[in-house]
Amino acid sequence: IHVDWDAVTAEKAGYDHFMLKEIYEQPKAYRDTMLGRINTESLTVSLPELKLTKEKIAAIRKVHIVACGTAYHAGLVGKTVIETSARIPVEVEVASEYRYRSPLITPETLVIVVSQSGETADTLAALREAKKHGAHVLAITNVVGSSVAREADSVMLTLAGPEIAVASTKAYSSQLIAFFLLGVYLAETLSTQEQAWTKSIVAAMLSLPEQVESILENTDALRTYAESIAEHEHLFFIGRGVDYAVAQEGSLKLKEISYIHSEAYAAGELKHGTLALIEDGIPVIALATQNALLEKTVSNIKEVKARGGEIFGISDVNEVKALGKAVDEVFGIPATNALLTPALSVVPLQIISYYASLARGNDVDKPRNLAKSVTVE
Ligand code: G6P
Repeated sequence: IHVDWDAVTAEKAGYDHFMLKEIYEQPKAYRDTMLGRINTESLTVSLPELKLTKEKIAAIRKVHIVACGTAYHAGLVGKTVIETSARIPVEVEVASEYRYRSPLITPETLVIVVSQSGETADTLAALREAKKHGAHVLAITNVVGSSVAREADSVMLTLAGPEIAVASTKAYSSQLIAFFLLGVYLAETLSTQEQAWTKSIVAAMLSLPEQVESILENTDALRTYAESIAEHEHLFFIGRGVDYAVAQEGSLKLKEISYIHSEAYAAGELKHGTLALIEDGIPVIALATQNALLEKTVSNIKEVKARGGEIFGISDVNEVKALGKAVDEVFGIPATNALLTPALSVVPLQIISYYASLARGNDVDKPRNLAKSVTVE
């Protein structure tokens, strides 16, 4: 008998591409990243890997989150998470800018570097710059023993497992989980939020793996939509709050593997320029998972609709109805705490990018001009 088998096919475990396999591994990546850090009885978080005493945490005056690419987008969500939970001001910056502009780092600054590989040259240089100024550096990385992991003061590992596809999926979403854990831990340590608040976040976190599974159970509508945009050259993503952060990641994912030009805009900023680009038939993906901002986002959606934009909405089950009337099509994600929605809403965006890339006949796992890990400047 002839067995059509090779090591790479075996590693893909029945999936056509590593990217698809890695998208489907997210429930496991979430569980593994939470395991041992969440006490499921008391709904509290422990992070023994954080080499900071309670006193040192209380002395933190500001947080800098520094990263590149997709990891930077996780940092944008991290900013909202930390500011909301710990009430400490957070700045997020791409490492290639941060390292060259003499950022104001003091020993009371907590610098968080985020890197899947732990080997990105600019991120590593930013880490060294931070250490030089006496800041405590916390690395969120997926690779044990990586350069970033070795040089940081504290290391929070994401347990996403090896990520092979150039376009990051499960590493990004596991970085979100790391930020949620950190946010809760800081809130517990600093008592900046009621216990009921931190417990409700933790309880909601524990449901995320199953919720991702339920999104991945039926992706037909996402595939059909992806095939419909494959002929387009331009696409826009809009959202507010953490939806805007996720929109930026969705836009990057689409560019990386489908080569469709796209931009992500804060929904309220559209009218200050970009609205001029909206004409008949332009596809727009609108994220509207934030109940408190729903009305505002819907009014931006109407502005786009009035100019002929074709809108694909993503919202949670509670808001789907309100959104449904304003958009051409809507995809519902399970309801969760407003702060945690990125861990769910990114999944349909990954799936859309994957199928758009496939429909265009691209090499999904190895997009042109890009490398998995950028160890040179
Ligand atoms: C490369 C990859 C991106 C990644 C970025 C940062 O550009 O193609 O997917 O987000 O590097 O990588 P890191 O390993 O530091 O997260």
